[in-house]
Amino acid sequence: MWRKGNRQTGAVTQPLWSAVDDYWITKLHAPDDALDAATADSAAGGLPPIAVTAPMGKFLHLLARAAGARRILEIGTLGGYSTIWLARALPSDGEVVTCEIDPHHAEVAAANFVRAGVDKLIDLRVGPARDTLAILDGPFDFAFIDADKASGADYFRSCVQLVRPGGVIIVDNVVRAGTILDPGSADEAVIGTWRLADAIAAEPRVDATVMQTVGGKRHDGFVMAVVQ
Ligand code: SAH
Ligand code: DHB
Ligand code: MG
Repeated sequence: MWRKGNRQTGAVTQPLWSAVDDYWITKLHAPDDALDAATADSAAGGLPPIAVTAPMGKFLHLLARAAGARRILEIGTLGGYSTIWLARALPSDGEVVTCEIDPHHAEVAAANFVRAGVDKLIDLRVGPARDTLAILDGPFDFAFIDADKASGADYFRSCVQLVRPGGVIIVDNVVRAGTILDPGSADEAVIGTWRLADAIAAEPRVDATVMQTVGGKRHDGFVMAVVQ
């Protein structure tokens, strides 16, 4: 059963989770100056350190590649770390449309795209994702939802419209160190996750599951949905 004290588990084992991430990164990831620089310039620009981890970024990249994705939708750019991973999964005529509300985040991301040599593949839309989604035309092959957690259910419903049958939708941060099981939570990200879960459960056009993760970013997880 969930107990409030379970949240402490993360604090005790985080160094181990990060060390295991580091072990596998050393084995499986090539050195990557463009991604390291994107991380460094995001920090220098005062952006919060909430990008996906390197293994999660590469996981998104491999999943998009395996799906043969040519058109990818991302909601929540930040400094473009996950966007660069996704852009690298594309053929030379592919496209990532990525939505970011904060002009400063978008400016840092745009510079990171140029340095990584992927700017021609990326259409960065600055403004509330809700407004961008309302004017976007599908179909997309793959979508990654990673913006304000209170709106996750709305973004999910938009992605079901925009992603083609057989396409994939990933939603980040759906476990939140287990705090989603706190029935009295007033955290808007937790309440947003409940709304998201209800929206997915009520959507007959997708088949979905959750994958919990630990690693450099403690205990969290993502939903994977395939549009039928
Ligand atoms: N996907 C990124 C991390 C995104 S962090 C990565 O892994 O590298 C979440 C981002 O969503 C932040 O930059 C935040 O400014 C943006 N965001 C928050 N609310 C938004 C909204 N309503 N529309 C678009 N972007 C939003
Ligand atoms: C936060 C947002 C994220 O997308 C994430 O992966 C981790 C944390 C946040 O807003 O705190
Ligand atoms: Mg996230």
